[in-house]
Amino acid sequence: MCAHARPGGVRPGLPSAGHYGEAVFRPEQPGEDDRIDLGALVYDDITMARLRSLGVGPGWNCLDVGAGTGTVARRLLYEAGVATVLAVDRDVRFLTAHPLPGLGVLEADISAPGFDPGRFQLVHARFLLMHLPSRERLIAGLGELLAPGGVLVLSDAVDLTTATAPATPYTRVMQAMWQGLRGTIGTDVSWVPDYPHLFRTAGLASVAAEIHVPPLVPGSPISRFWARSWDRAREAILATGLVDDATVEAAIRYLDSPDCAALSPGMITAWGWRPQEGMPSSSACADQEQLRRDDSGGGRT
Ligand SMILES: C[S@@+](CC[C@H](N)C(=O)[O-])C[C@H]1O[C@@H](n2cnc3c(N)ncnc32)[C@H](O)[C@@H]1O
Repeated sequence: MCAHARPGGVRPGLPSAGHYGEAVFRPEQPGEDDRIDLGALVYDDITMARLRSLGVGPGWNCLDVGAGTGTVARRLLYEAGVATVLAVDRDVRFLTAHPLPGLGVLEADISAPGFDPGRFQLVHARFLLMHLPSRERLIAGLGELLAPGGVLVLSDAVDLTTATAPATPYTRVMQAMWQGLRGTIGTDVSWVPDYPHLFRTAGLASVAAEIHVPPLVPGSPISRFWARSWDRAREAILATGLVDDATVEAAIRYLDSPDCAALSPGMITAWGWRPQEGMPSSSACADQEQLRRDDSGGGRT
């Protein structure tokens, strides 16, 4: 379904099989927090609305993995009124910069064997698993971190049009970006639409998913996010050989021009519940269905 689904090659010389934050999107590069925050400006309201409608609120102990600059972790505390949030990242410099009561910070690689920070009512990750290998194992592992009756909520990127849209500088650079990221840090969003199925395989109940695609309006946070991301991933993009520097520049200008008329990649959010102890996941499904009927917002408050 996505242009970037096919394996991507990169020119010799550029690191391959690396990790997020190494060859690309290095946290020590000035402005990386601003780039992450542009994505947060686009998606935080969507994420918070979904978490609130799932019932996340006072008394909840939450885990946010790959927390980035911590915008969701902070809003869970001061907006949803949860009890605690443990924010985990492989680099916590943006999380420790602004302490907040209730906010715990843990520097850890969630792929590392033995990653086990406790049990939580909410386990959340956004734009993380798409950058990591062994997703099925990771989804199962994150599900294991749920307390009985807790909910796993994962969001990642989905690109509905780049593969099929006419070849413009914008679509060609987007395609080259996915291929370049795949070749350098292993990013792969082709499997993301399988989230609901993977959640069920992991034993979660009342699984559901939704997609949000933000409008590409010149000067908007999503347009600025893509321009900034292409700039930072330029070496990986050019290394694919699919586009040259002039095409990247043309695509960046296009994003900021009144002629811009394209569809951005968007975000899939999927969620599923860990059944209460002693309850088979099929009964848990029926139970959750009842709760959903009781609460048209889709939650279980
Ligand atoms: C694209 S950012 C998303 C940040 C945040 N979740 C958001 O949506 O605004 C991905 C984050 O995941 C972190 N990360 C990448 N690989 C990780 C790993 N293996 N373990 C923990 N964190 C990781 C990165 O350092 C970065 O902060």
